[in-house]
Amino acid sequence: MFEPGLFAGTGFYERFAWYRANDPVSWQHPAGEPEGFWSVTRYHDVVAVHRDTTRMSSTGGMRLGSTERAVSAVANKMLIVADPPDHTRMKRVLIQPFSNDVLSRAEQYVEQVVADVVETAVRRPGPDLIAQLERIPTDVICAIMGLPRADWEWIGRKTTDAFESPSEVQRITANGEIFKYFSDLVRENRRTGANAFVSGLTAQDTGGARLTDEELVFNFSGILAGGNETTRFTLAALTLQLVEQPDQLARVLSGEADPAVATEEALRWSVPGMHVMRTATEALRVGGVEVEPGQRVVTWIGSANRDEEVFAEPDTFDVGRTENRHLSFGAGRHMCLGSRLARLEVAAYLRTLRRLVRAMTLEGEPRYNGSNFTWGLNELPVVLHA
Ligand code: HEM
Repeated sequence: MFEPGLFAGTGFYERFAWYRANDPVSWQHPAGEPEGFWSVTRYHDVVAVHRDTTRMSSTGGMRLGSTERAVSAVANKMLIVADPPDHTRMKRVLIQPFSNDVLSRAEQYVEQVVADVVETAVRRPGPDLIAQLERIPTDVICAIMGLPRADWEWIGRKTTDAFESPSEVQRITANGEIFKYFSDLVRENRRTGANAFVSGLTAQDTGGARLTDEELVFNFSGILAGGNETTRFTLAALTLQLVEQPDQLARVLSGEADPAVATEEALRWSVPGMHVMRTATEALRVGGVEVEPGQRVVTWIGSANRDEEVFAEPDTFDVGRTENRHLSFGAGRHMCLGSRLARLEVAAYLRTLRRLVRAMTLEGEPRYNGSNFTWGLNELPVVLHA
């Protein structure tokens, strides 16, 4: 699983299939990692791990390679690395602006952003479509959070640096800058109350649940990070499948494919969150294998989404797939806060393609970022034609 370059393409899917068939919960100890971990590849075992929030903790980090120092600074203060009761308290507040009701008011704005991005891409194609598509999640999340428009590009760049930069120094610096940005925002808003998103969350009184300023800052940064990279990877992966498979593109452009159904297939296929990690708090069994307290357990969502026990012809991309309980947003208590928003953006993209695009051409070699965590395309030389 840790062969260098494995995630620079899609060859890892074959390896996942081998593990699912031969060693579904396997012990891995790659060179360079201080400790080994259990690697879980079958759909039902992945679901069981995600649902077991009493014995599977997120406070030791939820991804491989995160440093203990960085995680302990935010553990139980940031949703994604929190356990109950802190997780429950914070999620009750933070879920509000991302609920169905509130987001249905953002729907029209999402459509506008997507239309603007696609129109621009058709009129002025660039060498890399991703450089244009990345505006969709950034603009939408920045608008929802009420951030000044002048900051959006900077924010988008910093989020990418915080995740994608090959230099650890640059990653840490970018994270620090994002924290500072949100600290200033929260402090300023205590004085002015000018930002409705922040005021809405600080005024929340959902059963006494409240967030400290520090928790707000960490979670804003989590929302930004969660929303930016991931949705961009799904849009890019979907575009690549459509350009490579003219029959699927025809179904989207003719309106035969239901955008809501095709969105789910784009999510199953793209897997922007390739793995998730937990730490066992007590002895338990995963897929029949004994896990000791303190051991790390890694679930591979990319493998679960291709599990032949659950999905018919899992290696076929099918915009009409209706039986599609993919795990791209995780499962259980930590299920993605932004799933509804991401779905809105992808469905709007599909509808806009149908409205504005007649053909697509691949003008060069697409490239994957090579990450086994936030995995996806970072170069996509595709041109959209009116
Ligand atoms: C295609 C798009 C997306 C994918 C594939 C995705 C994937 C995921 C996954 C797998 C998790 C669970 C992590 C775990 O179990 O430890 C998660 C959690 C989360 N996501 Fe997303 N995400 C997406 C979009 C978004 C958006 C748009 C937002 C912004 C609102 C967001 C914010 C979050 C947050 C804050 C969490 C933590 C939730 C918790 O721990 O309770 N994500 N996401």
